[in-house]
Amino acid sequence: MQAVGRAFGHNFTLEYGDVGGISIDRHGTPLTDGVRELATSADAVLFGAVGGPKWDDPSAPTRPEDGLLALRAHLNVFANIRPVKVYPELTDSSVLKPHVLEGVDMVVVRELTGGLYYAQPKGRTQTPQGIVGVDTMRYSESEIERVLRVGFELARGRRGKLTSVDKANVLETSRLWRATATRLADEYPDVELEHALVDACAMQIVLRPASYDVIVAENTFGDILTDEAAILAASMGLLPSASLSGTPGFYEPIHGTAPDIAGQGIANPCGSILSAAMMLRYSLGLTEEAAAVDRAVQTVLEQGYRTADIATAGDAATGTTQMGDLVANAIG
Ligand code: IPM
Ligand code: MN
Repeated sequence: MQAVGRAFGHNFTLEYGDVGGISIDRHGTPLTDGVRELATSADAVLFGAVGGPKWDDPSAPTRPEDGLLALRAHLNVFANIRPVKVYPELTDSSVLKPHVLEGVDMVVVRELTGGLYYAQPKGRTQTPQGIVGVDTMRYSESEIERVLRVGFELARGRRGKLTSVDKANVLETSRLWRATATRLADEYPDVELEHALVDACAMQIVLRPASYDVIVAENTFGDILTDEAAILAASMGLLPSASLSGTPGFYEPIHGTAPDIAGQGIANPCGSILSAAMMLRYSLGLTEEAAAVDRAVQTVLEQGYRTADIATAGDAATGTTQMGDLVANAIG
């Protein structure tokens, strides 16, 4: 953000708040009221990542992830936009064959504030039959409609194809989802609507990924499908996201904290950097600046710099800080 400020003559005011494990350690809760208010009063929120083995105890009263989920719900950012772009120079870094990756350019719209993540009842209870864990899958027609509309609108501005993902052969929420998508399709005659069952879609994403334009899915399906889609881009570390429709917008990479490589200075910063680009574009209206950040990442990759997650045999891996500096310099 500072590099963008320098290059384009902006003065961004950045304020920082603890969320997740650090907040549990310091304040006893993964999200304090203070940070909640800080987020609400901002023009946009750029989020890091949460989670770690230290806070993984299943009997703990709260977890880092609860802070993230509370913040998403509090900001009402129900539409999580996850673009999946394949950089041609990285096709060798992917485990998939280059011909499968040719022409891949999709956006997944993940519903972010409903479904299994949030619906009540939820929890663990002792019953005469033993302990029972409960999560509830619940969606109202209006929750479905508003996120589907985001998908239709996005598709309209792209290649005009929307794949609505569900499990309508089994789940009632999915039948409502599919019926709602079908009803809305009349309003978007310029968009070709296709329905896909989530299991089949999971297969097709790696079989013929180039056939997708915009995919819209409920919370859990979208979570799973986007980790899978990250394989197309070669690494989770590259994928940004924008969570929209509440204000302020909320921006975060799709990856977590990668505790397996914590402290080594080798994490890929590009997912976060590209999330900042989405923030510039969608919340701050700084289109040129956003494009400059996207281009800077592209340039650094074209120059052959690779963090460990995308390095192939023979590449000397670039560390997190150096990668960030290279991108910042390329912006300038
Ligand atoms: C994501 C993450 C989160 C989610 C976790 C950290 C709660 O996996 O943003 O995809 O499941 O939404
Ligand atoms: Mn996820």
